[in-house]
Amino acid sequence: MSLPRYSPLHGLPALAGLATFADAQQPGLSVEQCVRRLKRYHYAFKRLHGIFIARLTAEPIYELKMAFSLHAHYCAEHAAALRQRVGEMREPPLGLDAVPDAALEIFFDEIQCAPSTPELLLGIYERAVPALIAALQRHQRETNPLADAPSVRLIKFALIELGELAEYGAKALTAIRATAVQENVAEVKSPAGWLSLLDDCLGVAAQIDGTHPGPAKTLTRQYSAQPFTFDKVPRRDARFPDPYNMGVNAEAFLYDPAQPAEPKVLMMFYKRLREIDVPEMMASIITETPGKPWGYYRDMTRQLWDEARHAMMGEVGFVSLGVDWTKVMVNFTWSYGLNTQLTAKERHGVLYFIEQGLMPKTGKRFEWETAQAAHNALSAAFQDYDWADEVLHARVGRDWYVSQFESPKDAVAWGDRAWSKVLIGWRQWKDEGLTEHRNWWPDVYRDYCAAQGVEPDEKVLAYAETYETTRADLKAVSASA
Ligand SMILES: [Fe+2]
Ligand SMILES: [Fe+2]
Repeated sequence: MSLPRYSPLHGLPALAGLATFADAQQPGLSVEQCVRRLKRYHYAFKRLHGIFIARLTAEPIYELKMAFSLHAHYCAEHAAALRQRVGEMREPPLGLDAVPDAALEIFFDEIQCAPSTPELLLGIYERAVPALIAALQRHQRETNPLADAPSVRLIKFALIELGELAEYGAKALTAIRATAVQENVAEVKSPAGWLSLLDDCLGVAAQIDGTHPGPAKTLTRQYSAQPFTFDKVPRRDARFPDPYNMGVNAEAFLYDPAQPAEPKVLMMFYKRLREIDVPEMMASIITETPGKPWGYYRDMTRQLWDEARHAMMGEVGFVSLGVDWTKVMVNFTWSYGLNTQLTAKERHGVLYFIEQGLMPKTGKRFEWETAQAAHNALSAAFQDYDWADEVLHARVGRDWYVSQFESPKDAVAWGDRAWSKVLIGWRQWKDEGLTEHRNWWPDVYRDYCAAQGVEPDEKVLAYAETYETTRADLKAVSASA
């Protein structure tokens, strides 16, 4: 029988505030039980990460691409933390790349192969995420809060971000269902049969943590009967009606000292928004580069998320200037060209080549100075962080790309050669009727002037440089990073 009236000195909180004495006297999980569960949570985060990444390139809806980028980043971070924790528990962090349960594998394979966006969202946000949350909450309840405090801490942080995922997913599904009703298209397919297959998988796996067996069922793969194939062709929603348009050379305008700073801010917001193509491209590198240490996926996914943030900074910038960004032709030619013409390593080379070129004075510093010259505090803040992110990306490139070469010089030269191989078919796309390369700039600039209450400047209005003439030197052409 334990001491009935034991209490800390001066009535201070017990046990560093972690738990009551009653809770701390429950033995909870053994190290072995704990590790077994941690490995399964790790597997769930790893699979979710892979699904978000593998599906974002071909997902047409811009907002979902952005959300998938963030959610992939969260999952990569939690997978990293769990790997480290497993390594602290008398267990070399081995076996982390093994599949802990065949039924869980089918569960995540089915979600990864979901044939439509609504089904993908249902699988992720109405099945996988709630199941993972339930498992982590069980761990919190069942483990010893003092002995296993380091795991409890990781789980606490993971639950905060999984809560964000769940909330986002619920709102996204509500919105998509409402749109389906409004547009009078057939109700978003509610694939009852498929969802019960997912439930059966969880039952056979005894849930994500392996502790609550459901009825024995035979699991027959539906969507994953054929193995998943990664779709590397970027897709965009209806607000991107002219994805091959290379009619407005943003860089030539930005670097023209004769043009004023204020409309350059508008052009920089366009350049930021156009960075949607970087997550579309980086997702293909990550998906097509298996077998790296987890640090690679974690760093690359952080960068992918940064690039999604840069795109959203552009979106916010348009809103701040009172300009409708859908009148700007945000092309996908860079991600399309790289994804369909280069290997994963070559794409990484191009990314590194472009990013190390942004470090000198003409790159990110120049953009920040331009925003300051225009006295646009929002653009200056965005460019300031964009610049800081770029320094991080150069480090990621050195760690995971340059390290494969004899010297940094070789790595840059190799990336340069890969970039030169990409054929951007300016003339061909026009001839095939894919685009007119329409100069959208004057209309958008006029909208900007109207919103700002200023008279259009004739020189700015007359800007009509395309990407056609710079075709010979691809290095100067539209380059996202
Ligand atoms: Fe960027
Ligand atoms: Fe970057």
